[in-house]
Amino acid sequence: MQQYVTLKIDDARVQAIKGASVLDAAMASGICIPHLCYVPVLKDSGACRLCIVEVVNDGRTKITASCTLNAEDGMVIRSNTERIRKLRKNIAELLVAQAPNSRAVQDIAVRCGVKEVRYPFRNDNCIQCGRCVRYCTEYSKANALGFVGRGKNRHVEFALGFRRDFCKKCGFCTEYCPMSVTPCGGAMKAGEGRLCANCESQIAMADKFSGVCVRCELGRGFGCVRQTYV
Ligand code: FES
Repeated sequence: MQQYVTLKIDDARVQAIKGASVLDAAMASGICIPHLCYVPVLKDSGACRLCIVEVVNDGRTKITASCTLNAEDGMVIRSNTERIRKLRKNIAELLVAQAPNSRAVQDIAVRCGVKEVRYPFRNDNCIQCGRCVRYCTEYSKANALGFVGRGKNRHVEFALGFRRDFCKKCGFCTEYCPMSVTPCGGAMKAGEGRLCANCESQIAMADKFSGVCVRCELGRGFGCVRQTYV
């Protein structure tokens, strides 16, 4: 028989299946915590850090990613405090600077309150969320793609240089990549600090319905389970 735990997320009492993550519990209850590297069918990697929350314990708070945090009985989670919003906004801004031409990344950045990007664009065309690598390894079991290099040289490639032959041509690596699933057709180029005009609908929606899911491109392309407005 399935076991459940009860926790508090913001002001809501939430029930979750034992073993579920705090992010799963939140989304199943209609609480929208921004997330990017999370994929329901894959292991969580905690790579993008967008889903950070505060865990309150004995009056102390600890900040951690909610996708890698197991929901436990009696847990108290805050997903939308000023401190969290500020940190999340900064993380989103850095992601846009790292890969400016992704509609998915821009959408989520806007939802996190980003209107201008203060950091120089790197145009890496990859935010190292690892979705492609995890699909290749865990889902397709091809083990063709992997992270190569360290620090600023870290990037995704056919691992060990010879694994191109392992590729099963399943296409999941591109289908679920935030760069290729939702490329941005706007005028976002190095040196331009503003989010592109194509994403202005998101800016308008974010201003008008702060904190409300607007079924953004990210939700459509990334299988966000939230279907209803609150
Ligand atoms: S969704 Fe949790 S760290 Fe990316």
